[in-house]
Amino acid sequence: MSDRETWATRPGFVLAAIGSAVGLGNLWQFPFKTATNGGAAFVVFYLVAVALVGFPAMLAEFVLGRRTHVNAVDAFSRLGHRKWRAVGGLAVLTGFWILSYYNVVGGWVLRYILGSARGAYFSDPAGYFGSVSAGLDAVVAQAVFLALVVGIVALGIEDGIEKATKVMVPSIVVLMVALAAWVATLPGAAAGYDFFLSPDPGAMVANAGTIIPFAVGQAFFTLSLGMAIMVTYSSYVGGDDNLVADGGAIVVTNTLVGILAGLVVFPILLTIGAEVTTGTGGAGALFVATAAGFGTVPFGRLFGVVFFGVVLIAALSSAISLLETAVAYANDNYDVPRHYLAPAIGVALFLLGLPSALDTAWLTWFDSFAYQVFLPLSVLATAVFVGWVLGRDAVAELREGTGGLGAGGEVWLWTVRVVVVAAIVLTLALGINEMFLVEDAGFFQPF
Ligand code: PFF
Repeated sequence: MSDRETWATRPGFVLAAIGSAVGLGNLWQFPFKTATNGGAAFVVFYLVAVALVGFPAMLAEFVLGRRTHVNAVDAFSRLGHRKWRAVGGLAVLTGFWILSYYNVVGGWVLRYILGSARGAYFSDPAGYFGSVSAGLDAVVAQAVFLALVVGIVALGIEDGIEKATKVMVPSIVVLMVALAAWVATLPGAAAGYDFFLSPDPGAMVANAGTIIPFAVGQAFFTLSLGMAIMVTYSSYVGGDDNLVADGGAIVVTNTLVGILAGLVVFPILLTIGAEVTTGTGGAGALFVATAAGFGTVPFGRLFGVVFFGVVLIAALSSAISLLETAVAYANDNYDVPRHYLAPAIGVALFLLGLPSALDTAWLTWFDSFAYQVFLPLSVLATAVFVGWVLGRDAVAELREGTGGLGAGGEVWLWTVRVVVVAAIVLTLALGINEMFLVEDAGFFQPF
């Protein structure tokens, strides 16, 4: 990268990373994956995956970025391992794939802001979701959301993004806490908490094979791992930063926002009697549940506009971080100005997102493929590189700025080498088994 900067302040890095991490993954995916993968049992596997796999893997990405101070692809050659560049390439591709359908969901959010203002979904929340989530409407909304993302990245108004992030994270937390307090008074609250928070041990064991790939994938998705984002962000970090403390703050905040989303969505879903584990519990969970809730409270329209407005900001700040990563790499290597690159990449993203916008079955398929194949592969390759190829050099880099990690550095290294690698190999095996071998998985026929 030509003009290497470092973050002006340490909170600047942490907040920007939280801005990338907190997104549709927390507010949309997490409740939706929980609903369709066994409720509280999924939450348990997910929390374990975040702590034992996601957090160490995030530190591995930080080490790569700060050690090299270059983009995610060149970081590998900078460390003298040219053929490992393919891993950085896989991360950029993974991010590209995810962003293609992320834009479609971003489009839904835009529609819901408009719909809230008019009270359009109040009479039939599930029907409204069906009508705006796929088809021409969704294609147009996807294009508008994407245009916003491309526009911001093309202009490079990073000041704007940074300032928005500072307001965004606290406002999401405040708003979600307020919503959670309100839904606690609903008749379905107890059943909602039960579904979300009380795991059934029998079901956990019986369904571990299907739950684990999604729980591990969710940990990666929500922490923005395997998409070249965290390598890029940490490449702007100075040597005196404590990466372990920063990573801890990011992981904890991000997890809390996801839990809050669950505390809001499930009581509403059970109050309105939705089919939690299928139907409206699926991709539409967040939209149908909250929309139904806003339809029943005073000032529901205002509440709806504010809520979906916050979801939009969270989605935008994540999408921008991802497009920025791809643009930065292309910009560094091909000497094409960003105001050409951003729209060009945007057109490619639009085309790749079309199937998802035309049918939610395709969106679910793209999403499953990201969770079960792209994300695990990408994080696995990074973990092998950092753990086994860099090895003790990686520990030395992690130690910088921590004031001494004690035995913690070794523990982290062996966690990356063994726990992260083993968990991902298991995830891949289970995921591939489910997609290709299990009868009726319908991998090639999402319909
Ligand atoms: N951690 C982000 C989220 O949970 O929404 C993941 C992400 C997805 C970031 C898509 C960026 C993006 F474009």
